[in-house]
Amino acid sequence: MMNQTHSEILPSEVSHSNMKSYEEARSEFSWDTIERHFTWYETGKVNMAYEAIDRHVAEGKGDKIALLYSDATKDEAITYSEMKEQSDKFGNVLRKYGIGKGDRVFIFMPRSPELYASLLGILKVGAVVGPLFEAFMETAVKDRLEDSGAVALVTTPALLPRVKRDELPELKHIFVVGDLEEEDPQLISYFREMESASSELELEWLEREDGLIMHYTSGSTGKPKGVYHVQNAMIQHYYTGKVVLDLREDDIYWCTADPGWVTGTSYGIFAPWLHGVTNVIRGGRFSPQDWYGTLEKNKVTVWYSAPTAFRMLMGAGSDLIDQFDLSHLRHVLSVGEPLNPEVVRWGYKAYKQRIHDTWWMTETGGQLICNYPSMAIKPGSMGRPLPGITAAILDDQGNEVAPYTMGNLAIKTPWPSMMRKVWNNPAKYEEYFRIPGWYISGDTAYMDEEGYFWFQGRIDDVINSSGERIGPFEVESKLVEHPAVAEAGVIGKPDVTRGEIIKAFISLREGYTPSQELKDEIYRFVKEGLSAHAAPREIEFKDKLPKTRSGKIMRRVLKAWELDLPTGDLSTIED
Ligand code: WTA
Repeated sequence: MMNQTHSEILPSEVSHSNMKSYEEARSEFSWDTIERHFTWYETGKVNMAYEAIDRHVAEGKGDKIALLYSDATKDEAITYSEMKEQSDKFGNVLRKYGIGKGDRVFIFMPRSPELYASLLGILKVGAVVGPLFEAFMETAVKDRLEDSGAVALVTTPALLPRVKRDELPELKHIFVVGDLEEEDPQLISYFREMESASSELELEWLEREDGLIMHYTSGSTGKPKGVYHVQNAMIQHYYTGKVVLDLREDDIYWCTADPGWVTGTSYGIFAPWLHGVTNVIRGGRFSPQDWYGTLEKNKVTVWYSAPTAFRMLMGAGSDLIDQFDLSHLRHVLSVGEPLNPEVVRWGYKAYKQRIHDTWWMTETGGQLICNYPSMAIKPGSMGRPLPGITAAILDDQGNEVAPYTMGNLAIKTPWPSMMRKVWNNPAKYEEYFRIPGWYISGDTAYMDEEGYFWFQGRIDDVINSSGERIGPFEVESKLVEHPAVAEAGVIGKPDVTRGEIIKAFISLREGYTPSQELKDEIYRFVKEGLSAHAAPREIEFKDKLPKTRSGKIMRRVLKAWELDLPTGDLSTIED
């Protein structure tokens, strides 16, 4: 039995009351009804960029704002027509250099309007796009370009020195967005080419199973994996945009994720544009003031972010919120790691919004288990499988386990946006499907008697102390309820008597200083609030915890530090 509270509920709200109930939607569900939305349902001609951009222009909505971009230096509003024109032009530029269907073209640059236009241009010629985080250093960039066999790259002058060109024989062309000083046939000026490119483009029509995008993602061991998605994924992007993001015609939508992370493409590009809404993109780094300013200035109605950001906003306090007009917000969502109940309670008070947790993975291509908007929220639970999706908790042999028993979180195959391969690594791909009929996520979770799923940790993170299996998230969530704790990462540390003990790495909130008294107090706080076996017998204070660029606390790094082990692949770690 777990100790999380199952009785706490935030009821469904009027703002989503136009939606069907979860049960009704589930019983009526059919993928075919969703597929009818797409032009290819009639024509058989498929292209994501057409459905996301060109189609809205063809339907007379060309003057609508597609992209509201801002960073510290500029503000730009780009209409659907302008986005169509820019991406058509870039498509022609790519064709001029012989790039087309099936080629891998990567993008390595900070968020900017050009990033979005070039990504769409790549899709328009039928190439497969691979977005990379701008923070990647030489080896991370090289590994990904090499493994994917990318033939072209779009980057900026500032990032170009991190591209080891002489070690990448397959990389033929580099489009540089900005001033080009070097004379080199491999380097092509993006702006010069765009100036002379025609805006008449013949789209490359594809099949549903043709390539769309590749995202490299790290596991706990080995090199990053190239997760390969196909055009068919758009069914899931559209569907979840409708029923999870609850997007409506006039929404101003902001997904805070970078396109280097799957959230920044599935939900920062595809879902919003398939729905023809105005998409807000904020460049630059996180700051509470800038973020609230972005919500206010753009009158954002739907906001999709991550627990790490919500925790930092919580840390910045509620007074700050009063300085901004956030009255346009209608719907708030979270993804990437477990959303602590304390954050949900705080969001309910501070924003008067229920923060809707959503669970999915790079490999799944789209949301699968969610706090469906019309459903009551149980803080700490990631929700229930979407209509059309079946999820279960399986033991290692593939049997379903009883409610409240921790096991492997699995999804019944297939669903439209399921990855179609791990690039160059069929064996890795097969591992996910080792139990016939199921996709094994690598997460552990349990289900309660109402079918809500409760995340426990990655398989490798599960702690066994005195014979009790403990999910680190449960302990971390308790820890962040303590007023001194800003963030916490919990690992199992080998122990002769107990098998493992719990060790917590903690960063403190402003105004608190490390001390033995504070450690004792925190220990008691968990012991009394959760259980003795879950209380951290060791606590170490850190200024910052190691996190991925998408905000996940890297427990395997904490563990490696603790045990003096190699830390493995660190290419996705924050500075
Ligand atoms: C974790 C993110 C708890 C989980 C789109 C998963 C979550 C991994 C949640 C995938 C959530 C993601 N609650 N854990 N709502 N969402 N995770 O590929 O461990 O970056 O397997 O994709 O993040 O991370 P990825």
